[in-house]
Amino acid sequence: MKKTAVITGGSRGIGYGCAKALGLDGYNVAILDINAEADYRENLDELTGLGIDWYYMQGSTVIREDRERFVENVVEKYGGIDVLVNNAGVAPKVRQDILEMTEESFDYVVSNNTKGTMFMTQAVVLQMLKQPVKGLRRGVIINISSSSVTTSSTNRAEYCVSKAGITALTMVYADRLAAEDIQVYEIRPGVIDTDMTKVVHKKYSDLIEQGVFPIARWGTPDDIGGAVSAFCTDKFIYSTGNYIDLDGGFHIKKL
Ligand SMILES: NC(=O)c1ccc[n+]([C@@H]2O[C@H](COP(=O)([O-])OP(=O)(O)OC[C@H]3O[C@@H](n4cnc5c(N)ncnc54)[C@H](O)[C@@H]3O)[C@@H](O)[C@H]2O)c1
Repeated sequence: MKKTAVITGGSRGIGYGCAKALGLDGYNVAILDINAEADYRENLDELTGLGIDWYYMQGSTVIREDRERFVENVVEKYGGIDVLVNNAGVAPKVRQDILEMTEESFDYVVSNNTKGTMFMTQAVVLQMLKQPVKGLRRGVIINISSSSVTTSSTNRAEYCVSKAGITALTMVYADRLAAEDIQVYEIRPGVIDTDMTKVVHKKYSDLIEQGVFPIARWGTPDDIGGAVSAFCTDKFIYSTGNYIDLDGGFHIKKL
C-alpha cells in the first residue's frame, strides 16, 4: 500500500521542497499550513503535474482542533500516516536585541516553532501507534530546526531558543519511540533561499561571498528535501535521535 507523508508548513519554501521530494519518492503528501490553499496554488499544481497525490488543509500546528481534524482527514483519505516532517516555523516579526525582546515575540516564535512541533508530533504518533509496522518500521519523524541551535544571533534569541527546544524534542521523542519502531531525526538548515530569508538576502549573500560558508552558495528547498528523502529510506535504520547540518559546511570551525 502507498505510504503517506505529512509536511507542516508545506505550502512553500523548505516544506514544499520536502513535499515534492517525498511525493516523487511515491508518498501521498498531506500538507497543514496556515496559508490558504489558493495562496501558493502554483506549487500544488506542480505536485499534480508530477503525478503526486496531495491533500491540503489550512490550519495551524499550534491549534489543537486543527491538528486533530487534520490527522482525522488524512487518515480518512489515505488510511494512515507513515512520515511526519515538522517543518512549520516562523522568524520573529521584528529582529530586536535580546535586551529589547518582547514577551509577545518570544511567545509567538516559541509557540509556532517549539509548541507546534511538540503537539503535532504527539497527534501524529498517537495515530502511528494504531498502525502496524510496515517493513522495517512503523514511522519516521523529521524535525526541521536550524543552524541557530548552535549559532548565536543576539537580535533573534527567541528563534535560537525555539530551535534548541526542537533539538530537545528530537532527543526525547527518539528515546520514547525507539521501542515503537518509530525513528526521529533533526535537520539543521543553514541559509536557505526562501520567503523567510528575503529580508536578510543581501546580508547572507554578502557572507557567502566573503567565504563564511565552505560550500559558497545559498541552500535550496530541494537540498533539504533530498536529505528528508534519504532519512525516509531504510539506510539509517540503526539510528535515531541524530541530527545533520545542511548548511554548506557552515558548522565547521576554521582557523
Ligand atoms: N530559510 C532558512 O534559511 C532556514 C534556515 C534554518 C531553518 N529554517 C526553518 O525551516 C522551516 C521552513 O522555513 P522556510 O524558510 O521555508 O520559511 P517560509 O516562511 O517560507 O515557510 C514556512 C511555512 O510554514 C507555515 N507555518 C508557519 N507557522 C505555522 C504553523 N504554526 N502551522 C502551520 N503552518 C505554519 C507558513 O505559512 C509557511 O508556509 C522553518 O521551521 C524555518 O525556521 C529555515
